[in-house]
Amino acid sequence: MLLHLDASARRAGSFSRRLSARYAETWRAAHPGHGYAYRDLAAQPVPHISEAWTELCDYVLEHEITDISRYREAVRTPAQREAWDVLAPLLDEVVAAEVILIGTPMYNYSIPSALKAWLDQITFPRMSLAGRSFVVTGARGGAYGPGTPREPYDHEERFLRDFFKGHFRVEDVTFVHAELVNARLDPALAHLRAQHEESLAAALKEVSR
Ligand SMILES: Cc1cc2nc3c(=O)[nH]c(=O)nc-3n(C[C@H](O)[C@H](O)[C@H](O)COP(=O)(O)O)c2cc1C
Repeated sequence: MLLHLDASARRAGSFSRRLSARYAETWRAAHPGHGYAYRDLAAQPVPHISEAWTELCDYVLEHEITDISRYREAVRTPAQREAWDVLAPLLDEVVAAEVILIGTPMYNYSIPSALKAWLDQITFPRMSLAGRSFVVTGARGGAYGPGTPREPYDHEERFLRDFFKGHFRVEDVTFVHAELVNARLDPALAHLRAQHEESLAAALKEVSR
């Protein structure tokens, strides 16, 4: 199953959505019958975790529960039940997925809060998602590739890569970015427009591959 998430506040004209849609279309054509689930984290935001959610998390930690199918045991109060009802469908989708595809912009050198809220909801201590793949299709206003002056400011890919590998123990993690998107709008970056077009074309080619 492909779980497809989008996190850009933009609908029309979003590059991260365009890339994730292209990837999803290609994947689905190549994997007929594998299933598909879609969530728009910007249009239908996942709530921030609640105090009751932290109680579920503490219980899982204290009781050394690492099997995701046993998390439900942590529910003991009505508030915890409410928290569980929010997170359980999100977690079910992640567990069922072979590939988790995330279309996301860079916001303020990092990920959008809509995506962080989802990640907070589905993440528990020592939780392994090994065997699955993450694919991130991103768009950013600037350029953050190797050797660029802004490379050290990329806390989007760095954070997600560290999180997927370090916490979820997922080795198969792929990032495809369309860069320099701001060159389309910012007159001061107009000279980088061709470079942006190249980056976008390469990203579209890569997600189709
Ligand atoms: C709130 C906000 C913060 C942004 N922060 C950054 C940033 O830190 N670095 C950057 O390169 N671009 C930044 N951008 C530009 C976006 O990454 C760029 O517009 C990208 O295309 C957004 O993805 P989308 O096209 O899928 O909406 C920001 C845009 C917004 C709206």
